[in-house]
Amino acid sequence: MKILGLSLSPRKDGNTVILLNEALSGAQQEGAETELYSIAGKDIKPCDGCWGCRKAGECHIKDDMQELYTKMLEADGIIYGTPVYFYNMTGQGKMVIDRTLALGGRLANKVGGVIAVAGSFGLADTVKDLYFYMITRRMLPASFIAAYGGGKGDVKDLEKCMKATGDLGREIVKIAAKKFEYPEGGTHIAYGTHTR
Ligand SMILES: Cc1cc2nc3c(=O)[nH]c(=O)nc-3n(C[C@H](O)[C@H](O)[C@H](O)COP(=O)(O)O)c2cc1C
Repeated sequence: MKILGLSLSPRKDGNTVILLNEALSGAQQEGAETELYSIAGKDIKPCDGCWGCRKAGECHIKDDMQELYTKMLEADGIIYGTPVYFYNMTGQGKMVIDRTLALGGRLANKVGGVIAVAGSFGLADTVKDLYFYMITRRMLPASFIAAYGGGKGDVKDLEKCMKATGDLGREIVKIAAKKFEYPEGGTHIAYGTHTR
């Protein structure tokens, strides 16, 4: 069982990474193999909307996203961690999310968790957007952590939050062990009444 913690913060070793590491140590306690991947300092370009991935089954942009694709595909569970940047995930995080279009339906049935951290506002909006994203990928959303911390390392003082974060990691392993599967033949795009 592999759990990937994916930090979408450009700040090295900040609050998002601290919380993700806490969740991953919880996951390790449940017997999972874990890895933290931080996008800080990585070369990840935005999706150019070419839709070539639909035909080719892969993204033509050869940058650090290629190594991240492999890690995401190998994981049974992915914990997306992001700071709030103006009521949403970071711009860098959104670029990662958009680039996963190239994985088509291959994230389906993976368990997903969310960790969002903000100085003061925008947590609910950020968590919600990552949940909607997971639904389009047919992932199984687990719980989330919404933490308040502005300065680097502030979240370490949030005793209850740190405990809950470890619990999230543990729970994701337990959920993944149940081997949830969506029914065959469905679409990985969320259903909408606006479509014909
Ligand atoms: C460009 C930018 C935008 C931000 N926007 C918000 C915001 O909308 N709401 C908020 O509460 N904090 C905001 N923050 C503060 C960060 O969410 C906060 O410092 C967080 O702890 C950073 O996480 P990190 O240490 O993992 O990078 C912003 C920070 C930056 C750099």
